[in-house]
Amino acid sequence: MIIAIDGPAASGKGTLAQRLADHFKLPHLDTGLLYRAVGWLAGQTGQTPAAAAAYLDAADLDNPALRTDEAGQAASKVAAIPEVRVNLLKFQREFAHQASGAVLDGRDIGTVVFPDADLKIYVTATPEARAERRFLELQGKGETADRVAILGQIRERDRRDTERATSPLTRAPDAILLDTTELGLEEQVVLASRWAALAMKPVRRPTLIYSFGSGFTRFFARWFLDFTIQGLDRVPRKGPLIVACNHISFWDPPLVGAHLPREMHFVAKAELFHNPLFGALIRSYNSIPIQRGAKSRSGLRGAEEVLTAGGAVLIFPEGTRNKSGELLQPRGGVGRLAALTKTPVVPACITGSDQIRRSMRRQVRIRVSFGSPVMPPRSENPERDEVRAFARMIMDRIRAMREEQEAKTWK
Ligand code: C5P
Repeated sequence: MIIAIDGPAASGKGTLAQRLADHFKLPHLDTGLLYRAVGWLAGQTGQTPAAAAAYLDAADLDNPALRTDEAGQAASKVAAIPEVRVNLLKFQREFAHQASGAVLDGRDIGTVVFPDADLKIYVTATPEARAERRFLELQGKGETADRVAILGQIRERDRRDTERATSPLTRAPDAILLDTTELGLEEQVVLASRWAALAMKPVRRPTLIYSFGSGFTRFFARWFLDFTIQGLDRVPRKGPLIVACNHISFWDPPLVGAHLPREMHFVAKAELFHNPLFGALIRSYNSIPIQRGAKSRSGLRGAEEVLTAGGAVLIFPEGTRNKSGELLQPRGGVGRLAALTKTPVVPACITGSDQIRRSMRRQVRIRVSFGSPVMPPRSENPERDEVRAFARMIMDRIRAMREEQEAKTWK
């Protein structure tokens, strides 16, 4: 089990990583300390940073001098040297392989060190919020601190960490964004430990019907349609996941679902199950009925069960197939379901599927794209307004992806 936590300076990633490590009884490696130690050793012994990185020992990490701000600034300078990074890569991988897993936090864990981590989280907060935390931390230690200076240092470190050529600080495409500007540590731990616990569950094999159906759909799309897909690297492979897509055609659930790299469950209107034969067919293909209206919580129960077991659900936030060409106002369901089950949401966009015949004649290209995972609303039982705002934010992402797809079509 590898949990990768990345993020900028003073985002709180180290504290979160330590809490997760305690919770799951996994070793924790603060990889920033490695760079700090290299900078410090090079300064003290006159070795080159690359040599210091090659012979770094776990004992070197216990030095209290590494925790100072000067050590942080020195670290971010040696961190830009490619040989230093290569040498520390070995250290980090060995650390995790010696135990049966680990929690690592740093800048490039999910992108470079462990691109196949079981769970990737990108922790962030506004520079102001991070500066404020650092300020309070220093004050708590009885040190004198200057808010403006701290903010300046944080901005400077962000700039250096994101602009350097080797392994710059970037979010892995499939890392779940955890914005902690307004999220306390306990709330972060609750979310992250749930994602991790569910990502650890063994993945069950899809049913034969599902494998056959999705295989057939991929074959059909590949050979009979003008079909492209992008952003699959943004889809987390493990743990609970909601994929929220716009809906223009009967073909959307199979086309989007079959191309996702994991078994999907499909939320469908209860009315579709009224015909016994059709109902049995779609049920065997992982469809779950949802009831709309007053008792909305019980209406979502089927989807809730899948997500609580760590599965993935495809949902259409507009609530209905929409042929108008404009996106509809979303219903709240996607926000309510995400909040209730603390599940991240990947926005998805499909265009062209309402013109299947023309696509078969290669006159229309069907495009599917995915966005990076968004964290769920803060509270488990959010107010109506929060749910709505969340759903609108997801629709805005879908709209932005659609505009991008349309721009390509006209090129
Ligand atoms: O996280 P911390 O402040 O201890 O990191 C110190 C510096 O080490 C960062 O500013 C960054 O430049 C570098 N670093 C890195 N890759 C990591 C961890 C830290 O480049 N995985």
